[in-house]
Amino acid sequence: MNFLELANSRYSTKNYDSSKKISKDKIEDLKKIIRLSPSSINSQPWRFVFVEDEAKKSELASVSLFNEEKVRDSGLLVVFYVADDLKVFEEQVKKNLPEMAVAYYENYVKTLPESAIKTWLQSQVYLSLGFFLSAAISMGLDSTPMEGIIHDEYSKIVPVEGFRPLFAVALGYRKEDDFNQPMLRPKSRLRAEEVVISI
Ligand SMILES: Cc1cc2nc3c(=O)[nH]c(=O)nc-3n(C[C@H](O)[C@H](O)[C@H](O)COP(=O)(O)O)c2cc1C
Repeated sequence: MNFLELANSRYSTKNYDSSKKISKDKIEDLKKIIRLSPSSINSQPWRFVFVEDEAKKSELASVSLFNEEKVRDSGLLVVFYVADDLKVFEEQVKKNLPEMAVAYYENYVKTLPESAIKTWLQSQVYLSLGFFLSAAISMGLDSTPMEGIIHDEYSKIVPVEGFRPLFAVALGYRKEDDFNQPMLRPKSRLRAEEVVISI
Protein backbone atom coordinates (compact mmCIF):
# COMPACT_ATOMS: atom_id res chain seq x y z
CA MET A 1 0.00 0.00 0.00
CA ASN A 2 1.26 3.50 -0.73
CA PHE A 3 0.93 6.25 1.88
CA LEU A 4 -2.40 7.53 0.56
CA GLU A 5 -3.86 4.04 0.76
CA LEU A 6 -2.52 3.65 4.29
CA ALA A 7 -4.03 7.03 5.27
CA ASN A 8 -7.40 5.91 3.96
CA SER A 9 -7.21 2.58 5.75
CA ARG A 10 -6.12 3.75 9.23
CA TYR A 11 -8.82 4.78 11.68
CA SER A 12 -9.37 5.14 15.40
CA THR A 13 -10.22 1.62 16.45
CA LYS A 14 -13.09 1.35 18.92
CA ASN A 15 -13.18 -2.44 19.46
CA TYR A 16 -10.13 -4.64 19.77
CA ASP A 17 -9.91 -8.41 19.46
CA SER A 18 -8.25 -9.29 22.76
CA SER A 19 -7.31 -12.77 21.52
CA LYS A 20 -4.86 -11.35 18.96
CA LYS A 21 -1.46 -10.47 20.36
CA ILE A 22 1.14 -8.17 18.84
CA SER A 23 4.41 -9.93 18.08
CA LYS A 24 7.49 -9.05 20.13
CA ASP A 25 9.29 -8.03 16.92
CA LYS A 26 6.64 -5.48 16.08
CA ILE A 27 6.74 -4.03 19.58
CA GLU A 28 10.53 -3.74 19.39
CA ASP A 29 10.23 -2.03 15.98
CA LEU A 30 7.70 0.46 17.38
CA LYS A 31 10.17 1.31 20.16
CA LYS A 32 12.88 1.99 17.59
CA ILE A 33 10.54 4.05 15.38
CA ILE A 34 9.12 6.32 18.09
CA ARG A 35 12.63 7.31 19.15
CA LEU A 36 13.21 8.61 15.60
CA SER A 37 10.32 11.10 15.65
CA PRO A 38 11.33 14.57 14.48
CA SER A 39 11.04 17.61 16.78
CA SER A 40 11.89 21.30 16.67
CA ILE A 41 15.67 21.77 17.16
CA ASN A 42 15.69 18.02 17.84
CA SER A 43 14.49 18.92 21.34
CA GLN A 44 12.88 15.51 22.07
CA PRO A 45 10.93 16.66 25.15
CA TRP A 46 9.34 13.25 25.63
CA ARG A 47 9.28 9.83 27.18
CA PHE A 48 7.28 6.89 25.82
CA VAL A 49 6.16 4.19 28.22
CA PHE A 50 5.33 0.87 26.56
CA VAL A 51 2.90 -0.97 28.82
CA GLU A 52 3.07 -4.64 27.92
CA ASP A 53 2.38 -5.95 31.41
CA GLU A 54 -1.30 -7.01 31.55
CA ALA A 55 -1.77 -6.16 35.22
CA LYS A 56 -0.42 -2.63 34.73
CA LYS A 57 -2.47 -2.19 31.55
CA SER A 58 -5.60 -3.26 33.40
CA GLU A 59 -4.87 -0.78 36.18
CA LEU A 60 -4.51 2.00 33.59
CA ALA A 61 -7.68 0.83 31.80
CA SER A 62 -9.68 1.48 34.96
CA VAL A 63 -8.66 5.17 34.86
CA SER A 64 -9.19 5.58 31.11
CA LEU A 65 -12.77 6.89 31.19
CA PHE A 66 -14.75 5.93 28.05
CA ASN A 67 -11.60 4.29 26.66
CA GLU A 68 -11.47 1.60 29.34
CA GLU A 69 -12.47 -1.30 27.09
CA LYS A 70 -10.07 -0.27 24.31
CA VAL A 71 -7.15 -0.20 26.72
CA ARG A 72 -8.15 -3.52 28.26
CA ASP A 73 -8.64 -5.37 24.95
CA SER A 74 -5.73 -3.87 23.02
CA GLY A 75 -2.43 -5.71 22.80
CA LEU A 76 -0.25 -2.79 23.84
CA LEU A 77 -0.65 0.61 25.47
CA VAL A 78 1.89 3.36 24.87
CA VAL A 79 1.75 6.42 27.12
CA PHE A 80 3.27 9.63 25.78
CA TYR A 81 4.84 11.95 28.36
CA VAL A 82 5.93 15.56 27.94
CA ALA A 83 8.70 17.34 29.83
CA ASP A 84 7.12 19.16 32.74
CA ASP A 85 10.12 20.29 34.77
CA LEU A 86 11.68 23.04 32.70
CA LYS A 87 14.96 22.97 34.65
CA VAL A 88 15.43 19.25 33.97
CA PHE A 89 14.47 19.74 30.32
CA GLU A 90 16.95 22.59 29.93
CA GLU A 91 19.71 20.34 31.22
CA GLN A 92 18.76 17.74 28.61
CA VAL A 93 18.93 20.42 25.90
CA LYS A 94 22.35 21.71 27.02
CA LYS A 95 23.79 18.23 27.42
CA ASN A 96 22.67 16.81 24.09
CA LEU A 97 22.10 19.50 21.48
CA PRO A 98 24.56 21.39 19.28
CA GLU A 99 25.39 25.02 20.04
CA MET A 100 22.97 26.44 17.44
CA ALA A 101 20.04 24.53 18.88
CA VAL A 102 20.92 25.53 22.46
CA ALA A 103 21.13 29.17 21.30
CA TYR A 104 17.68 28.92 19.71
CA TYR A 105 16.31 27.51 22.94
CA GLU A 106 17.99 30.17 25.09
CA ASN A 107 17.26 33.16 22.84
CA TYR A 108 13.82 32.29 21.60
CA VAL A 109 11.97 29.51 23.44
CA LYS A 110 13.15 30.46 26.94
CA THR A 111 12.05 34.07 26.54
CA LEU A 112 8.43 32.98 26.11
CA PRO A 113 5.99 32.87 29.05
CA GLU A 114 6.01 29.49 30.82
CA SER A 115 2.63 28.53 29.35
CA ALA A 116 3.93 29.15 25.81
CA ILE A 117 7.06 27.08 26.50
CA LYS A 118 4.85 24.24 27.69
CA THR A 119 2.68 24.53 24.58
CA TRP A 120 5.84 24.35 22.44
CA LEU A 121 6.96 21.22 24.29
CA GLN A 122 3.55 19.58 23.90
CA SER A 123 3.51 20.36 20.17
CA GLN A 124 6.61 18.22 19.74
CA VAL A 125 4.97 15.27 21.50
CA TYR A 126 1.81 15.57 19.41
CA LEU A 127 3.97 15.48 16.30
CA SER A 128 5.43 12.18 17.48
CA LEU A 129 1.86 10.89 17.76
CA GLY A 130 1.24 11.47 14.04
CA PHE A 131 4.52 9.76 13.21
CA PHE A 132 3.61 6.81 15.45
CA LEU A 133 0.07 6.32 14.11
CA SER A 134 1.40 6.23 10.54
CA ALA A 135 4.09 3.75 11.51
CA ALA A 136 1.52 1.52 13.22
CA ILE A 137 -0.74 1.20 10.18
CA SER A 138 2.27 0.61 7.92
CA MET A 139 2.97 -2.43 10.14
CA GLY A 140 -0.61 -3.68 9.87
CA LEU A 141 -1.50 -2.58 13.40
CA ASP A 142 -4.73 -0.87 14.40
CA SER A 143 -4.53 1.96 16.89
CA THR A 144 -6.45 4.53 18.93
CA PRO A 145 -4.98 7.84 20.12
CA MET A 146 -6.59 8.75 23.46
CA GLU A 147 -6.64 12.03 25.32
CA GLY A 148 -9.60 10.67 27.25
CA ILE A 149 -7.66 9.37 30.22
CA ILE A 150 -7.35 10.54 33.83
CA HIS A 151 -3.92 12.11 33.60
CA ASP A 152 -3.31 12.43 37.34
CA GLU A 153 -4.13 8.77 37.87
CA TYR A 154 -1.80 7.75 35.02
CA SER A 155 1.02 9.72 36.69
CA LYS A 156 0.37 7.95 39.97
CA ILE A 157 0.34 4.46 38.38
CA VAL A 158 3.31 5.08 36.06
CA PRO A 159 5.31 8.06 37.36
CA VAL A 160 8.15 9.39 35.20
CA GLU A 161 10.19 12.00 37.04
CA GLY A 162 10.17 15.42 35.39
CA PHE A 163 7.49 14.41 32.88
CA ARG A 164 3.69 14.21 32.80
CA PRO A 165 1.39 12.04 30.68
CA LEU A 166 -0.26 13.82 27.76
CA PHE A 167 -2.16 11.05 25.99
CA ALA A 168 -1.98 7.32 25.31
CA VAL A 169 -2.24 5.09 22.26
CA ALA A 170 -3.84 1.65 22.28
CA LEU A 171 -2.59 -0.77 19.63
CA GLY A 172 -3.68 -4.18 18.45
CA TYR A 173 -6.04 -5.78 16.00
CA ARG A 174 -9.62 -4.70 15.42
CA LYS A 175 -12.64 -6.90 16.12
CA GLU A 176 -13.95 -8.00 12.74
CA ASP A 177 -17.18 -6.07 13.24
CA ASP A 178 -15.70 -2.86 14.70
CA PHE A 179 -18.29 -0.28 13.63
CA ASN A 180 -15.72 2.49 13.16
CA GLN A 181 -13.61 0.87 10.44
CA PRO A 182 -13.70 2.75 7.10
CA MET A 183 -15.33 -0.23 5.38
CA LEU A 184 -18.39 0.18 7.62
CA ARG A 185 -18.19 3.89 8.40
CA PRO A 186 -16.61 5.99 5.66
CA LYS A 187 -14.00 8.49 6.81
CA SER A 188 -15.41 11.87 7.71
CA ARG A 189 -13.31 14.93 6.90
CA LEU A 190 -13.85 18.54 5.81
CA ARG A 191 -13.90 19.00 2.04
CA ALA A 192 -10.46 19.09 0.37
CA GLU A 193 -11.26 22.46 -1.28
CA GLU A 194 -11.91 23.93 2.15
CA VAL A 195 -8.77 22.75 3.95
CA VAL A 196 -6.18 22.51 1.20
CA ILE A 197 -5.45 25.80 -0.48
CA SER A 198 -3.61 25.80 -3.79
CA ILE A 199 -2.18 29.06 -5.08
C1 LIG B 1 -4.98 13.76 20.13
C2 LIG B 1 -6.14 12.87 19.88
C3 LIG B 1 -6.91 12.42 20.94
C4 LIG B 1 -7.98 11.54 20.72
N1 LIG B 1 -8.64 11.02 21.80
C5 LIG B 1 -9.54 10.01 21.59
C6 LIG B 1 -10.10 9.28 22.68
O1 LIG B 1 -9.83 9.57 23.84
N2 LIG B 1 -10.90 8.23 22.40
C7 LIG B 1 -11.22 7.87 21.12
O2 LIG B 1 -11.95 6.89 20.94
N3 LIG B 1 -10.73 8.55 20.07
C8 LIG B 1 -9.88 9.58 20.26
N4 LIG B 1 -9.33 10.25 19.19
C9 LIG B 1 -9.71 9.85 17.83
C10 LIG B 1 -10.38 10.97 17.02
O3 LIG B 1 -11.71 11.13 17.43
C11 LIG B 1 -10.26 10.58 15.55
O4 LIG B 1 -8.89 10.64 15.18
C12 LIG B 1 -11.03 11.48 14.61
O5 LIG B 1 -12.42 11.41 14.85
C13 LIG B 1 -10.78 11.10 13.14
O6 LIG B 1 -11.14 9.75 12.92
P1 LIG B 1 -10.11 8.62 12.45
O7 LIG B 1 -8.92 8.66 13.37
O8 LIG B 1 -10.91 7.35 12.61
O9 LIG B 1 -9.74 8.90 11.03
C14 LIG B 1 -8.30 11.15 19.39
C15 LIG B 1 -7.52 11.63 18.34
C16 LIG B 1 -6.45 12.45 18.56
C17 LIG B 1 -5.60 12.88 17.40
